[in-house]
Amino acid sequence: MEDAFIVNGGKPLVGTVRLSGAKNVALKTIIAALLFDEKVTLQNIPRISDVIELMHLIKSIGGHAEFIDTNIVEITGSSVNTNKVELLHSSKIRASFLLFAPLLNRFKECYVPNPGGCRIGARPIDRIIDGMRQLGVDVEYDSTSGYYNARVAKDIGGTYTFPKPTHTGTDLLILLSVRGNGMTTIENAAVEPEIDELIEFLNVSGAQIRRNNSTIIIEGVQKLSAKSAYTIGLDRNEAVTFAVLGIASQGSVEIEIPDAWSIKSFLDALEKTGAGVEKKSSNILRFYYRPGLKSYSIETAPHPGFMTDWQPNWAVLMTQAQGETIIHERIFENRFAYVNDLKRLGASVDFVSVPADNPESFYHFQYDENKHYLQAIKIIGPTPLHNGVLTMSDLRAGASLIIATLIAKGESVIQGASILERGYENFCEKVNALGGDIIKV
Ligand code: EPZ
Repeated sequence: MEDAFIVNGGKPLVGTVRLSGAKNVALKTIIAALLFDEKVTLQNIPRISDVIELMHLIKSIGGHAEFIDTNIVEITGSSVNTNKVELLHSSKIRASFLLFAPLLNRFKECYVPNPGGCRIGARPIDRIIDGMRQLGVDVEYDSTSGYYNARVAKDIGGTYTFPKPTHTGTDLLILLSVRGNGMTTIENAAVEPEIDELIEFLNVSGAQIRRNNSTIIIEGVQKLSAKSAYTIGLDRNEAVTFAVLGIASQGSVEIEIPDAWSIKSFLDALEKTGAGVEKKSSNILRFYYRPGLKSYSIETAPHPGFMTDWQPNWAVLMTQAQGETIIHERIFENRFAYVNDLKRLGASVDFVSVPADNPESFYHFQYDENKHYLQAIKIIGPTPLHNGVLTMSDLRAGASLIIATLIAKGESVIQGASILERGYENFCEKVNALGGDIIKV
């Protein structure tokens, strides 16, 4: 296998796409299930490699994690028999550091590798470690082994205010506090909808968690039990990818939307471009091309702002829009890996300097004034895209390169197909069902 996609582009994509379950809900609910004493059944779990890797990781520590049907998994945490997470699997999935919670709940001490950075940025967990310490967990980092050693020093509880919100950091403090005798208050918590799904899953299983905007209060409980299978929601990031695909390919794609609120900032931005968005029913939207697509500049932000995960998709759409677009990335410090490949396909896109008044508070990554960052790009459109040979570097950038080659006329090759399969289930089948032409080789 070449681990590549071959794409024949230039055709409008038309039809209906059925989204998969949300990757960024599946990962956290699977790990949360390890906090239960009995078996937990989760439905609508996407068969993507991040989920499969996480399940291997759970089995490597003695847990039970199996697909019992196409998108249904059974998780059992009571058989976990080691409190040390091995590097091989954990290094592939950043969210594996959430395992601190079930391991500390069960063993009161555990060893978890530093999740480290990835292609989109350094992605440290400093704020998260501070939060753990504030809530009663002693954490030491052993730089020779690359492992964190965490030990429960007292009943977990207290108040922690994140200096800047962190999505999975918020998940972890919830999971650390949900079982026990203490009361935890998290201030300046992240408010992504995926966290609300985690809270709902835990609360229907006996947890006591309340959210008031960015304040989350968790009262520890003694037991969590799943009274029935829990079904996770649809993937809003996938929704945006296919919406852009329908519009940019000059086609028409109908999508059952997870929850319009979860993609409101995307819908608002689309409205400014004049793209076609038709409400077919309460939860089905049709995204279609209308001549004269207009450019619209965005800057990314935590929910309910324009999500960083949608930024690469927006860039491809704006190559087909009339005028100049500025995209300013505030969340991660390396989320423009697709830019050079877009240029190779004929797009007019260049890095530009957009000054920020107070970069330390404006950017959500750890800003270093001695470093030079490339945080903004300028796109001039519309430009016809042609075929090319590309290499994808991260999940969302990869999806954007596929959108670009599906717009471009001719045959393109994109290396790194396995990166896309980390987060998009049956992607080729879904695209080809819309009249696209993509195969994995
Ligand atoms: C989650 O990442 C998602 N991943 C990301 O989706 C998503 O882009 C991101 O949230 C923003 O919504 C999962 O849910 C598995 P953060 P996460 O902690 O939690 C910095 C995708 O493609 N930071 O909110 O890692 C961090 O480096 C992925 O599906 C610290 O500096 O994001 C980043 O720059 C990509 N120190 C910023 O904060 C910390 O202790 C926001 O990160 C924690 C975070």
